[in-house]
Amino acid sequence: MQSVGIIGAGIMGSGIAQTVAGKGMDVILTDVSLENAEKGKAGIAKSLAKLVAKEKITQTDADALLARITPVADYAAMSGCDLIIEAATEREDIKAKIFEAAGKVLGANAIMASNTSSIPITRMAASSPDAARFCGLHFFNPVPVMGLVEVIPGLATSQDTIDRMKAFGEKLGKTVVLAGDEPGFVVNRILCPMLNEAIFVLGAGIGSVEDIDAGCRIGLNHPMGPLTLADFVGLDTLLEIMKVFHSTTGDPKYRPAPLLQKYVEAGWYGRKSGKGFYDYSGETPVPSR
Ligand code: 3HC
Repeated sequence: MQSVGIIGAGIMGSGIAQTVAGKGMDVILTDVSLENAEKGKAGIAKSLAKLVAKEKITQTDADALLARITPVADYAAMSGCDLIIEAATEREDIKAKIFEAAGKVLGANAIMASNTSSIPITRMAASSPDAARFCGLHFFNPVPVMGLVEVIPGLATSQDTIDRMKAFGEKLGKTVVLAGDEPGFVVNRILCPMLNEAIFVLGAGIGSVEDIDAGCRIGLNHPMGPLTLADFVGLDTLLEIMKVFHSTTGDPKYRPAPLLQKYVEAGWYGRKSGKGFYDYSGETPVPSR
């Protein structure tokens, strides 16, 4: 892999772009507009500035990394990419349109991958130009820090595609796990019901925001409590994931917590919107209510 197209310059897309460019590969970054793609690159510059200030990387390396990331307005510039990674909103209709449009420029030997958190790969492969060269490639937030990537083959994904995706994950310095094509794959299938359950626990008045988080942080030695982590993942994203679990399996144990639904309806998406289970407007987050 020498050149990678990334569709979606939000938290995940930007994190993937930073990681890929950090390993010397060129990145073509796009979003719904050039302005959004540029905003994504500006966010990466900010995160690199922090690393430079902490003397984790040199200014020269940060500049070189940034120079390898090119924000663009459309998919045409991705025709020379060896791999295109979709990291857009967790909605199947949006992703399907992306695979159809970007599929038109996908090189003859190039791979199209989705960073979906939950949506079945085989189902999405139908919108891509070649199901044999379509694969799930699931990163974790914050991408430059988290050491894992899940490779999820769909039913028709070729062994060559799987091998190349594994090699790509390893080139990024990540541990690669192979996951089956079921909603949530391995990690989110376990994580997201836990986060959803924490919201049920809050809604039932069993614990306060602070006590639920302290309980899991200290009692389970998790780096973040589940409500902090839900805010970090994005409550809108978590809701979409739970809806996919629920609708795909038909199992009521995956129904989204009513409070999660309510927070999303209020526009409280978590850290990215400034408010979720915590309010992020001050110096330190405080429970929203
Ligand atoms: N680029 C490179 N390095 C970065 C970075 C970035 N963008 N952001 C942070 N870092 C580095 C920091 O420099 C620091 O390095 P150091 O330890 O060598 O100084 C290190 O990461 C830790 O950062 P901080 O000191 O700022 O913060 P914390 O020690 O509080 O750790 C955390 C932050 C790593 C996010 C930790 O709280 C954590 O692991 N939380 C859980 C995260 C998690 O579970 N993620 C998965 C979510 S699920 C998901 O993503 C799947 C999706 O589909 C839903």
